[in-house]
Amino acid sequence: MDDLRDKYLTAIAAAADEAALEDLRVQAVGKKGEVSLQMRELGKMTAEERQVAGPKLNALKDEINSALNAKKQALGDAALDERLKTEWLDVTLPGHRRRPGTIHPISQVTEEVTAIFADMGFSVAEGPQVESDWYNFDALNIPGHHPARAEMDTFYMHREEGDNRPPHVLRTHTSPVQIRSMQEHGAPIRIIAPGRVYRADYDQTHTPMFHQVEGLAIDKDISMANLKWCLEEFVKAFFEVDDVELRFRASHFPFTEPSAEVDIRCSWEGGTLKIGEGDDWLEILGSGMVHPHVLRSGNIDPNEWQGFAFGVGIDRIAMLKYGIPDLRAFFDSDLRWLRHYGFASLDVPTLHGGLSR
Ligand code: DAH
Repeated sequence: MDDLRDKYLTAIAAAADEAALEDLRVQAVGKKGEVSLQMRELGKMTAEERQVAGPKLNALKDEINSALNAKKQALGDAALDERLKTEWLDVTLPGHRRRPGTIHPISQVTEEVTAIFADMGFSVAEGPQVESDWYNFDALNIPGHHPARAEMDTFYMHREEGDNRPPHVLRTHTSPVQIRSMQEHGAPIRIIAPGRVYRADYDQTHTPMFHQVEGLAIDKDISMANLKWCLEEFVKAFFEVDDVELRFRASHFPFTEPSAEVDIRCSWEGGTLKIGEGDDWLEILGSGMVHPHVLRSGNIDPNEWQGFAFGVGIDRIAMLKYGIPDLRAFFDSDLRWLRHYGFASLDVPTLHGGLSR
């Protein structure tokens, strides 16, 4: 038995691979293996002999089996080590710049708008996209019965029956950030609020999610003239033209009084848009002097403070500036489109460095 033991343990230790191990297993403890044959001999022994030999044989079988398992494990570990060595990767090597990613036009335009207004002293404010209907409507002087409320194609958040928390909506515009900013910082204040907004609408010029940037400036003596100057500076810088003519068209928004929609002079000659020349007008934003009710919602005293607000569609001005024909393509994640219309990721737009190189 000792010979058997030495023979197999030595052979197992020397086995080069799993196939060799399997051969050894069959030879030793397989059905017709040497140890198994010895076990068969037990039947021919006397009871006393069997009592000595039986446990010894069982122990030998166990010992060989566990040597086989241990060796199998060791061979597996060695194979894995070998594989890891060949698959080793130096993660400190510099990357390949074969197909660098690009900045989405919406992100690019948001950065451009931010750079322009930052230069005029506006800071960036943000608000939640799931908004209470008070911030989205009431605080902005849009009461429950107001037609604007129905016109907005609002997405309402689901509420269980008996839930009496105030209703929430996906914000339909960035204007509620005006209220939150006034409440938080008081007056004077100068902010822009870029972000996502939502309306239940889908066709070539509408997507259920789109982007706006809101502007708000409140001080003691801010007038419509300041609004006009700011927007002119913005349009010139954004479209990168020296001269633009703006047209302020009387309009109505519940949150401003008076209200104006702003058009820019343009031409569509030859099918391409040129800003600043021609005989056409293109509407680009809504604006006005902040309504006293809105100031009050923001805890600001309208007898002491006044100011202007405006709202611009980011997607729309991105399409105009970069000649992008279909709004829906913005949100298709088509790689070819993204490579074509995307911007170099390290070119951060600034007024001195260039907005849209
Ligand atoms: N909130 C308006 C909209 O979504 C846009 C707007 C118009 C914002 C006039 C303003 C404003 O701040 O003064 O259509």
